Amino acid sequence: MDDIQEKSKDVLLSIQNLHVWYELKKFGFGHAGFVKAVDGVTFDLKQGDAMACVGESGCGKSSLMKAIMGLNRPTKGEIVFDNMKLTETKGNDLREYRSKIGYVQQDPFGALPPFMSIQRILEEPLIINGIKDKAERMRRIEKTLNEVKLTPIEEVLPKYPHMLSGGQQQRIVIARAMILEPQLLVADEPVSMLDASVRVEILKLLRGLQESHNLAVIYITHDLSTVRYFSEYIFVMYAGEVIEMAKMEVLLGNPQHPYTQALMEASADPDANNALVIRDVPPGEPPSLVNPPSGCRFNPRCKHMMPGLCDVKRPPMFHTEDNHKVLCWLFDEGHKGGTGDAPR
Ligand SMILES: Nc1ncnc2c1ncn2[C@@H]1O[C@H](COP(=O)(O)OP(=O)(O)O)[C@@H](O)[C@H]1O
Ligand SMILES: [Mg+2]
Repeated sequence: MDDIQEKSKDVLLSIQNLHVWYELKKFGFGHAGFVKAVDGVTFDLKQGDAMACVGESGCGKSSLMKAIMGLNRPTKGEIVFDNMKLTETKGNDLREYRSKIGYVQQDPFGALPPFMSIQRILEEPLIINGIKDKAERMRRIEKTLNEVKLTPIEEVLPKYPHMLSGGQQQRIVIARAMILEPQLLVADEPVSMLDASVRVEILKLLRGLQESHNLAVIYITHDLSTVRYFSEYIFVMYAGEVIEMAKMEVLLGNPQHPYTQALMEASADPDANNALVIRDVPPGEPPSLVNPPSGCRFNPRCKHMMPGLCDVKRPPMFHTEDNHKVLCWLFDEGHKGGTGDAPR
C-alpha cells in the first residue's frame, strides 16, 4: 500500500499502476472498446501480512488477482513478486513464480477435477514441480492434510471430490494451494459458496495457516463483515479502482469514502448465530467498465456528489490520516483539486 506501509526490504509483492483491460470485439471481430476491469491500482504487500480486498461483484477483484498470479497479462503497469518482475518472467521462471502463490477460489467443487482422487489432486502439483520421490510426496500430503484438519488421512486420500461436503472440498482446495509451501495465498471469495455454518471455520483455518507459515494473504470478498478474520490491511475497490486503503482497524472505525460507508451498512455477520439482516447494497447500479462515468466513478450513486467537480474530474488519492488514503474529493481541502499526494 505504497506510503501507507513503509517501504522496506521485506516487501513481497509490489503493484504499480496496474491496468487489466479486456478487449471487446464486435461480432467476434472489430474493436468495440475495452472492459477496464483494473484501471490504475497501486499497493505493496509485505511478507507475512494479510490484506483484504473488498468490493461488489464485477468491480475487478478477480481480474486483479489473476494478474498477480500470472494468469492475466497486465495491459499496463508492473507487478514485482519476490524480486521477480512478472512482465519479464517466462518459461521455467514463470512456473516457479506461480508455484510461490497458492490460489483458493470461490467454488471448491468447480476447482477440483471430478475424476481424480484426493491423493492424485494433491500429488499432481508436487509431480509437476519435480518432486520425484513418492515417499516425499506422501509425507508432504500427510503434513498438509493434517494442517487443513482433514483426517483420518487414509480415509480421505482414495475419495473423489463429490464424496466430500462443501467445507471438506474447500479444505482440499486449501491443501492444494498450500502443498508447494507458497509465500502468498490468494483467497478469492473462499467462503461465499459455503453454508454459513462452515464459513467461520474455513476463515479461521486460513488465518491459522497465515500465522503458522508467516504467509502473505490476500483475502477477497464482497462481504465486509468477514474481513476481521484477516487483520492488517484492507482496500476497497470500486469499478476497477482502489478507492480507499487503510489499516484494518482504522478503516473499520472510520470509513471515509461514501461507497465504503454504504458497503459497511450493507454487510452482515457470517456467523449464523449473530446474523444481521442484510440491508441493500448502495443504491444504484455498478457503473459500466467500458464507459465509466466521467470524474469520480462513484458520483452517480453518491449522496455527497458535488456537481461540476465530482462528475468532471477524477479524484486523486488523498492521505487523510495515518495509515489511511481515500480517492474522494470530499477530502480535498477547499475542494480546489490537485492536492492529492499519490499517483494513480
Ligand atoms: N476474460 C474476460 N473478458 C472480458 N471481460 C471480462 C473477463 N473477465 C472479467 N471480465 C469483466 O471484467 C469486469 C471485472 O470482473 P471480475 O474481475 O471478475 O470482478 P469481480 O471479481 O470483482 O467480481 C466485469 O465486468 C467482467 O464482466
Ligand atoms: Mg471475482
